[in-house]
Amino acid sequence: MTTVRITVNGRPVEADVPPQTLLVDLIRGPLELTGTHQGCDTAQCGACTVLVDGEAVKSCSVLALQVQGRAVTTVEGLARGDALHPLQEAFMACHGLQCGFCTPGMLMSACALLKREPSPSREQIVDALEGNLCRCTGYVNIVASVEQAAQALAAKGERA
Ligand code: FES
Ligand code: FES
Repeated sequence: MTTVRITVNGRPVEADVPPQTLLVDLIRGPLELTGTHQGCDTAQCGACTVLVDGEAVKSCSVLALQVQGRAVTTVEGLARGDALHPLQEAFMACHGLQCGFCTPGMLMSACALLKREPSPSREQIVDALEGNLCRCTGYVNIVASVEQAAQALAAKGERA
C-alpha cells in the first residue's frame, strides 16, 4: 500500500491504496465522490474528467500516485456554497444534458476551458470538449451551455 496525500475540492485528504490505483478509483472508492463517472476506462469517453491544478485530466488515465501533493477538483467541488456553478446553471437552462452520464466530465472540461479562456469561441468550445463523448444530446445544447456560462461569468466579473 502507498499513502496518497492530495487536496480534493479544497480539503486535504489522505488514503492508503495499492500503488497501481487509478485516480478515478481513488475518487469513487475511498473518497466516495461518485459524481465522477467511469465509462470506458480507456481514456476515450471523458466521463471521468476532473481538474488537476486547474487542468482537465481523465482520471482513468492517471495513477492516484501521479497526482501526489496536487489539487484535484471533482464535480462535487464546482458549486459555490449553496449556489450552483454558472456552468451547472447553464447546463440546466440550456438543456445541456439528458441522461446526465457524460455531464460531470463535460462540466469539468468546460470549467478548465473557461479558466484558461474566459471568452471562448464556439470552435474553442468544441475543441475543448473533443475528448468528452455524449450519446444523448447531439452536443448542440452542450456548446450553447458553455457559451451561456461564459457570458454569465463575464456579466458578474467572475472567473470559472
Ligand atoms: S472512464 Fe475515463 S475516459 Fe472514459
Ligand atoms: S447526456 Fe447522456 S451521455 Fe450525455
